[in-house]
Amino acid sequence: LDVTQQASTGDLPAKSHVDDLIADAHARYAGLSDGVVADYIPILAEAEPSWFGLTLVGINGSTHSAGDADITFSIQSISKAFVFALVCEEVGHAAIHDRIGVNNTGLPFNSVMAVELNGGNPMNSMVNAGAIATTALMPGRTIAAKWENIRNGLSRFAGRALEMDDTVYESEMLTNQRNKAIARLLQSYKRLDPDPLDIVDIYTRQCALSVTATDLAIMGSTLANGGVNPITGEQVVSAWASRDTLALLASCGLYERSGEWLFEVGLPAKSGVSGGIVAVAPGKGALGAFSPPLDSAGNSIRGQRACAYLSRSLGLNLF
Ligand code: DON
Repeated sequence: LDVTQQASTGDLPAKSHVDDLIADAHARYAGLSDGVVADYIPILAEAEPSWFGLTLVGINGSTHSAGDADITFSIQSISKAFVFALVCEEVGHAAIHDRIGVNNTGLPFNSVMAVELNGGNPMNSMVNAGAIATTALMPGRTIAAKWENIRNGLSRFAGRALEMDDTVYESEMLTNQRNKAIARLLQSYKRLDPDPLDIVDIYTRQCALSVTATDLAIMGSTLANGGVNPITGEQVVSAWASRDTLALLASCGLYERSGEWLFEVGLPAKSGVSGGIVAVAPGKGALGAFSPPLDSAGNSIRGQRACAYLSRSLGLNLF
């Protein structure tokens, strides 16, 4: 990337400079035609490949957007990061380490083999097996109560009531046999206590919550800000749960491409198959990106390029 790596100053640059760079990032990559829109969840194939939105939200609440920052899309795997934060807060650091794990699988997000190769261990909460096991740990006596806690919790991260997209949920429920198989496999290893199909149901619901690039930036900046939503001022999770979440995003947020991402961008982040990416600059803010065409690991191509450009030009790289 032909952009000078700016040194981190500990703060975001002045507002007008950030606005200019967000507009630049959008203009640089809007014309890219690489990548394919996901279609293994049939409804996702209807997304417009040209959609491209970017938002940066600072921990002081400053908001900078370009392009399709207000188009809604299903959050998909990015929900895993925020459900993890809520569960981590409830069960604690040690239980996450012991019951789920925090190491990258090096394999695709929906790998069954990763579970088998690791003696039934779901490995980490950012791949489907670990995310299903994490959703099962969400507080709530009934499955409906767990789902309400997920929807409320993610809404507090976003600072607005998030709604589920029924069409996305129904489309994925027709084609999610693999996730059901993973849940049954975890059950066979005694790694999943509640009914596996109930858990896959609410996991599929959490993935179908509708968000915008701006929502993702607000959700991410809550993690950047020690768990306090910079727009509403609400403490959504504690500072330590935010820190644990960001550590996991750094090692596992872009699946088997997490190493390359950290090498290029240097920020904890999470991607989803509908084309969203949230990238978090601790103590500064977060980027929300949305563009449906994906690389072969399931990560938005324009989103990755824009985050790499902005990480360099804004001096966000942690290292
Ligand atoms: O479980 C699934 O396959 C989808 N609901 C989410 C997958 C996903 O977003 C992976 N991301 N790149």
